[in-house]
Amino acid sequence: MRPVAVLCGVGSYLPPTAVSNDDLSQRLDTTDEWILTRTGIANRFFASRGTATSDLAVSAAERALKCAEVDGVDAVVLATTTPDRPCPATAPVVAAKLGLSGVAAFDVGAVCTGFLYALSAAAGLIATETAERVLVIGADTYSTIVDPSNRSDAVIFGDGAGAVVLRAGTPGEPGAVGPFDLGSDGDHRDLITIRAGGSEQRLSGAEPRPEDHYFSMSGKKVFQQAIVQMAGSVRGLLRRAGLEIGQVDRMVGHQANQRILTRLADVLGLPEDRNIGNIREVGNTAGASIPIALDDGHRRGLLSTGDQVLLTAFGGGLTWGSALLTWPDLHHTDRIRS
Ligand code: ACO
Repeated sequence: MRPVAVLCGVGSYLPPTAVSNDDLSQRLDTTDEWILTRTGIANRFFASRGTATSDLAVSAAERALKCAEVDGVDAVVLATTTPDRPCPATAPVVAAKLGLSGVAAFDVGAVCTGFLYALSAAAGLIATETAERVLVIGADTYSTIVDPSNRSDAVIFGDGAGAVVLRAGTPGEPGAVGPFDLGSDGDHRDLITIRAGGSEQRLSGAEPRPEDHYFSMSGKKVFQQAIVQMAGSVRGLLRRAGLEIGQVDRMVGHQANQRILTRLADVLGLPEDRNIGNIREVGNTAGASIPIALDDGHRRGLLSTGDQVLLTAFGGGLTWGSALLTWPDLHHTDRIRS
């Protein structure tokens, strides 16, 4: 029988600088009331100059490895849209900083769906017996790519990292990960994008405008697409797994906007108290948001061994996806802030 991926550790890291809605309203034409009611976000954390995405990733990974009570893995898979450098990938840097030089290490680029794509790639490494243990990390520093003067985007995003450890196990044991449902639609690439900095730029022959170096998002269109695509993905996943929505104990969705998550639960017919997350405290941490929310739910005792947990995400690409896992029996670790 082929091995299946089993989650055996989780951890997260948030940088030390807390930024409240009131802090943002000092420099932007916005208010705590607008941000809280339109997004559900009260606070986020920003990495300081001198802190790279790999640093956040390493701190989260150390926590996850400690939780799993292991000190080595065979592969590191990192989901990020904000790599340390355009080249090389950041995962080998993270592996080296963790003292894991020599292991397979690669980045996954699927924006806010990145963690689910990375998780499925890692599960594949285990199923094909390429690796016995894999570290899967979501880490992003959107404070480095969001235009700080754009009030629509600047209030949403925060920095952070979350990580899980997967090991080879057997189907049906607590922690078993899968199945997955993943999708994309590149025709909508302009809805969430950074226009400059890639190979496409030279095709136009024109110099990029300064704003082309920043992240840009068509918020309203993305909002509508997010609900449609995540709901479709979850329904397809549940069909494949032979489950009804009522059998889902917890949903951890990409923490993009609390209104999206509430609407999604409503559309799916999932009771609101099964929809857990921490967007209020940390904002939208992009590819890091699901593992950060999982670690938060674990530490707050909201996830019990054997719970059927539904993960779902949506992001630039466009990309979307969902996955199921049964919650394992995990040790408790504290989240660290430097
Ligand atoms: N403070 C006050 N007013 C604001 C702010 C702000 N921070 N931001 C926008 N507004 C104003 C707008 O200027 C506009 O004013 P107008 O009517 O006078 O023109 C009004 O509020 C409504 O603007 P909308 O953009 O329509 O606001 P909306 O309610 O859609 O909220 C938001 C914007 C929060 C971005 C929302 O659209 C959203 O969450 N979209 C989805 C984001 C998402 O899920 N992204 C995918 C994942 S992230 C990723 O992949 C990287």
